[in-house]
Amino acid sequence: MSEPTIDSVRHILVVGAGAMGRQIAMSAALVGYTATVQDISPDMLEAASTELAGWTAGRVAKGKLDAAASRTSLGRLAFTTDLETAAAAADFVIEAATERLDVKTGIFDTLGRSAPAHAVLATNSSTLGSSKVAAVSGRPDRVCNMHFFNPALVMKCVEVVRHAGTSRATIETTLELARRLGKEPVLINREIPGFIANRLMGAIQREALALAEAGIASIADIDTTARSALGHPMGPFQLMDMVGLDVIDFIAQATHAETGDPADAPHATVAGLVAAGKMGRKTGAGFYAY
Ligand code: 3HC
Repeated sequence: MSEPTIDSVRHILVVGAGAMGRQIAMSAALVGYTATVQDISPDMLEAASTELAGWTAGRVAKGKLDAAASRTSLGRLAFTTDLETAAAAADFVIEAATERLDVKTGIFDTLGRSAPAHAVLATNSSTLGSSKVAAVSGRPDRVCNMHFFNPALVMKCVEVVRHAGTSRATIETTLELARRLGKEPVLINREIPGFIANRLMGAIQREALALAEAGIASIADIDTTARSALGHPMGPFQLMDMVGLDVIDFIAQATHAETGDPADAPHATVAGLVAAGKMGRKTGAGFYAY
């Protein structure tokens, strides 16, 4: 089987048209790759296409992208519900589907059967190490995590995580692809729940929640402090609302299930807001009202 190389990467498949998948695909199109976005939901594909057209129009209006480049980039994107056909044409796959092992297992099974032998199969998951889907793909050496951050068109970091059987060629190809997408990849040599960024973010969130619950300061003042004293672009409560409280709660559940560390346990305040349908910005309310 031919080893993956960056030179063989021309066409990228992104599985999942949600908030992350659609922006990852756009990042690829902007730097010249053709990309297919696959999702089981035609409505999600439609929403992704509409948002990306709106985003590029906004860039053109701000003078940050010329109209011709905008049209060319959007023209490099295709949208489909057909995973097998899309996989057959892919040189590199980034799976950004729902954070459920059964869903990802089904996807990696199809990818393993349908994608060309040279294709790297990466997962954007921040909670499931790629070792969990490596075997079912039939090509465990070509599987790794490639974890982008929200909003993926803006955030520079990409965590590239190898599992014990990931090949050096897979890691080098993935790191170089991230660089070509304009990102600053970091390499994580061993699977660990939360990788680097979510562990740091979790620690700040735990402390912020403890301060608010003890009545030490308001959530607004805690957020202001993170911005004005530490230079964070957003305070921890604003960030949780942006990422989605359901996502924050899910990350804590998944991390806690693996580590068993009480410090990683889901937070009752976050879980309570989720149960009340307050998931943050996307539902119009979370720690703040929008
Ligand atoms: N999609 C695409 N682009 C966006 C965007 C979005 N949702 N939101 C903002 N932008 C762009 C704007 O168009 C603007 O671009 P420009 O400067 O080239 O014109 C730029 O970002 C700055 O936007 P704004 O001026 O409107 O606002 P801010 O300066 O406050 O920046 C922010 C917004 C980039 C979101 C900034 O607040 C930030 O960096 N916040 C922290 C985000 C963060 O920590 N993300 C990680 C979350 S954790 C995660 O993803 C892991 C996962 O596993 C949960």
